[in-house]
Order: sequence, then structure tokens, then C-alpha cells
Amino acid sequence: MPLLMRTVTWNYQQNTLDMIDQRRLPAALEIVSYHTCAQVAQAIRGMVVRGAPAIGAAAAFGLALAGFESKAQTSRDLLADMDAAASTLKAARPTAVNLAWAVDRLMADALRLSGFKSADEIRLGVLAEAQRLADEDVEINRRMATYGAELIADGDTIIHHCNTGALATVDWGTALGVIRMAWEQGKKIRVLVDETRPRLQGARLTAWELEQYGVPYEIISDNMSGYFLRTGQAQKVLFGADRVAANGDVANKIGTYMLALAAFDNGVPVYAVVPTSTIDLSLAHGGLIPIEERDPAEVLGIQFQGEQVAPLNAKARNPAFDVTPNRLLSGIVTEKGVVSAPFEINLKKVIK
Ligand code: MRU
Repeated sequence: MPLLMRTVTWNYQQNTLDMIDQRRLPAALEIVSYHTCAQVAQAIRGMVVRGAPAIGAAAAFGLALAGFESKAQTSRDLLADMDAAASTLKAARPTAVNLAWAVDRLMADALRLSGFKSADEIRLGVLAEAQRLADEDVEINRRMATYGAELIADGDTIIHHCNTGALATVDWGTALGVIRMAWEQGKKIRVLVDETRPRLQGARLTAWELEQYGVPYEIISDNMSGYFLRTGQAQKVLFGADRVAANGDVANKIGTYMLALAAFDNGVPVYAVVPTSTIDLSLAHGGLIPIEERDPAEVLGIQFQGEQVAPLNAKARNPAFDVTPNRLLSGIVTEKGVVSAPFEINLKKVIK
């Protein structure tokens, strides 16, 4: 069963950006409406919306809001206002390249339109381009899912990291989209959903989505993956990515590297499922990808049996992503097909 709405939607009656508040799931399915670009940037930072493609789409609509907020009469002044908004949006989260990719795509379109359109026509043109980007995201995810599902065998148990489903995209999902497609094709699969500390995107969001789709799953804590891989109880490992470097190194949710290492050591195939908008050929290798460090409170805030776990004055570190070296990957699934090693050469072929 599909979700009832897209994660990120433009409301044409109210001229607002409506988003599922992912901080509240699974306790409540709440929709929040945003009226300004600054609010959208804050929602991205605060993870009301999260997941690389979803924040790209949110930023695109955020830029459309910036256009409507601007009092500019001329296309030149409008572009200056939108440029400032673009910088604010891009600074919201640093690792997922889809954010900058979406904002740059919209700004390029606004610049093109400014050659022959009025300020008001540019405002509408930017909204139309944001809508196109969002619609394309759904279409791209479905294509990736079709390619990815071919890699899944009937009876597979799949370990999945973080949340890469409809909630992490405009709709459908990347790695979770592959799982959903394989299930809809009738393959009897199971999913081991790792919790994904510290924000628990697996236990909260992926588990919630799998409930909607009826796919059998069990939640495991992150440190259990090695056990299941070593005892032959998982046949595939799937995750998404926030940025893929030119050599195929993959930045994804913290914990991905350890999971990929354990899978590689046990000969279990590992696939990253990513739209080509997540591939950043400007960075030669994963060591150059900026890694977001978030508030240590996210690590320290966890409770056990109703009590805070850590001592009151405890300190913590909270890198939100890590980089998995390309040698651990069996392939990278894109909307243009499955890319295999040598990634430096083959990724270039899918980005044209
Ligand atoms: O911090 P988040 O929840 O935005 O991190 C999300 C991930 O790491 C996903 O795996 C990634 O964005 C790919 S999802 C399509």
C-alpha cells in the first residue's frame, strides 16, 4: 500500500510547501506547511525532512517560496534575492549533494528565464521547475527499483541501513524502493532493519514504511549485523547514499562503513542505490566529501527503561555520515542501470 501523500508536496491552494514531519513518526503522521524559504532551511537542518533526494526537492520548493517572498519588480533584483536564498538553503546540511544539485538546477533555470521573462513569470517558472524535479524524482526511483530488484533473489534476507524509502525521497524510495519492488514482484523476502543510531531512522521510519507495504521485517540493533552476516542469515546488504565521489566511494548514514565491511568479509553482496543526482564527479574520492557533525545531544538523549543512559556531564561525538570505500561495493544501482567496478570509468558513462 502506498503512503497517502508524497513526503514533499507543493500546495497549490495555499502556495505553501507541505511536508510530513519525520521527527514525529511513527507516533504521529503530521503534515507541516511552510510559508517561507527560511522556514524550509530550518526544517532541513532540524530533520523535519531528511534523506538526500527529499531534501533536494524541499530545497527546490524552498527556492520557489523565496521567489514569492521577494518584493523585486525586475528579474535582476529577483535573481539577487533568490541567490541569497540559495546560499541559505545550501548551507542547511553539507553532506547530501542533492541539496546543492537541486538549488543549482533551479538557479540555472531562473537565470535562463531572466533573459526573456518578467519577474512574475520567473517566479512561476521556478515553481514549475521545482515541480518537475519532484515528479522526476518519483520516476527515477521507480526505474532504479526495477534495475535493483533484478539483483534480489526469491527468499533473500536483506539488511537495510537508515531510511531510504518514500520518506527519504519525494515518493517510492531508493534502496527501500528496490525492496518494495522485489516484494511487489512476488519475491518472498525479509528485511533486517538496523536501528540506525543515533536518530533511529531505521527503527522509526523504515520499520513504519515496511508496515505500510506489508513486507516482513525485524528490527536489529546496529551491532547485530556482523552476527547475521557471519552466520549466513543475510544474503544482501542495501543502502542509499548522500554523495558518491567520482571513484565510487559512498558517503551515507553513519554505520554504513562497518556494515559494508562485515558484509564484504563474509562475501555478502553490497549495493548502494542512488539516483545520478547523488553522484558528484567533482570530488575525486570519498575523503573529500564534507561530513556533517551534529549536536551530541542526539547521541546522549537516548533513554533506557525511562532513564537517561549517559551520565549527566557526559560528552559525545556525532558524525552523521561515514564513507564506504568503493572496493567494498558489489555495484551502484542508478536509474540508468547497475554500475560496477571500475567505478572511476563506469560512473562517468552514466553521467552525461
Ligand atoms: O541524516 P539523514 O536521515 O538525512 O540521512 C539519510 C541517509 O543517510 C540516506 O541513506 C540517504 O540520504 C539516502 S536515502 C535516499
